[in-house]
Amino acid sequence: MENVIEVRNLVHQFGVKSVLKGLDFDVKRGETFGFLGPSGSGKTTTIKVLTSQLIGSSGEVRVFGQAKADLKRIGILTDNSGLYERLTIYDNLALFCDLYGTDRARILDVLEEVNLAGEEKTVVKKLSKGMKQRVTLARAILHKPDLLFLDEPTSALDPVNRTRIHTVCAG
Ligand SMILES: Nc1ncnc2c1ncn2[C@@H]1O[C@H](COP(=O)(O)OP(=O)(O)OP(=O)(O)O)[C@@H](O)[C@H]1O
Ligand SMILES: [Mg+2]
Repeated sequence: MENVIEVRNLVHQFGVKSVLKGLDFDVKRGETFGFLGPSGSGKTTTIKVLTSQLIGSSGEVRVFGQAKADLKRIGILTDNSGLYERLTIYDNLALFCDLYGTDRARILDVLEEVNLAGEEKTVVKKLSKGMKQRVTLARAILHKPDLLFLDEPTSALDPVNRTRIHTVCAG
């Protein structure tokens, strides 16, 4: 099976602090691949390098065979949401639709998928933490990416929404 991610001897330092010390792994098409590790062990740093938000100090990273991730083919959910707090859920997602060239008609479908149907006119600053997290997930899957990067996607969610999100992400 084809590798969608290839990581060879990835090393990263923040100043004098060595965070990634020669990471090697492959992720195949169709595979769900998870990082387990204590807080501060470099999981988020690895995702940032894979999604081209950070350049590793040395080593090689390939996503779909390219050194730089193709943002149209990947979706990213990180711990810092980056949502525009003063805009509505709809307007936040509309902005990304326009960036990705995705039809805005997809917004209501995706909100249904993350259990936020009927909330599209709500301003983001009025949302609970778990609701914001679900908007972030909606944004990550809006353009139907081939590869989804999820950094603690269900940390703020109740069991019902957690199960729902697992189902959405598996699909
Ligand atoms: N921008 C940064 N500048 C300096 N050091 C950083 C930066 N980002 C992360 N680090 C350091 O890199 C190390 C790994 O952090 P990272 O966020 O990757 O850990 P993590 O495994 O995702 O942890 P958690 O489970 O708490 O989310 C930590 O020691 C952290 O202090
Ligand atoms: Mg982290």
